[in-house]
Amino acid sequence: MVVEEFLTGPEVSVLSFVDGKVVKPMVSSMDHKRALDGDKGLNTGGMGTVAPNPYYTPAVAEECMKTIFLPTIEAMQQEGCPFKGCLYFGLMLTPKGPKVIEYNCRFGDPETQVVLPLLESDLLKIMMSTTDGTLADTEVKFADGAAACVILASGGYPESYAKGKEITGLENGQIPGAEAVIYHAGSALKDGKLVTSGGRVLGVTAKGADLPEALKKAYAACEKVSFENAHKRSDIGQRALKALQ
Ligand code: GLY
Repeated sequence: MVVEEFLTGPEVSVLSFVDGKVVKPMVSSMDHKRALDGDKGLNTGGMGTVAPNPYYTPAVAEECMKTIFLPTIEAMQQEGCPFKGCLYFGLMLTPKGPKVIEYNCRFGDPETQVVLPLLESDLLKIMMSTTDGTLADTEVKFADGAAACVILASGGYPESYAKGKEITGLENGQIPGAEAVIYHAGSALKDGKLVTSGGRVLGVTAKGADLPEALKKAYAACEKVSFENAHKRSDIGQRALKALQ
């Protein structure tokens, strides 16, 4: 009996729309789960993401569709529990081919912060089609280009960290004039002030014609936001850039 198998290889997150029978994967993404640069430190919920994931080539995508996505959907149908909604495939591209590390019946965080900004089709129509069973006839189109998300976290996360630190640099939750969107995760309004209220506080996301441009914009936006003992990784996207070379 195999209790545990040690797998190695690049990880890829593939969120996908499913209507019970049809599966349409979204643009692939790469999470950065460790707290510190160089993939060091403790595992976190995710310190940043980029999309698309350069390891997820068209050939890998085809293999995943054949050996993982379709068999998963078909097995759930056969068991009388057809899946409808967003299914998250957490994959590892091992020397023996793509393997599933985890399934989640939800969007990923912070994968969604880079995947949905690249979606050109109407999200509501797609989500409706997953419940109506009409996904096959519904357009799911993603833009060319890339997106990057850098997480601004409370120092100490994922272990103990302080809350209630004032966040400056934002107006109405966004950075005025920046080419980036701020997704709020661990922030709160207290006595009219924006303060930290969690480990992963803000997701700073930018799009670009390519990954270097997206990363440049996201990191430039991060410089405009501050709170005491803020922590971010400074190497989000570096592994993806190396893979692209
Ligand atoms: N980023 C990992 C997850 O959403 O599970």
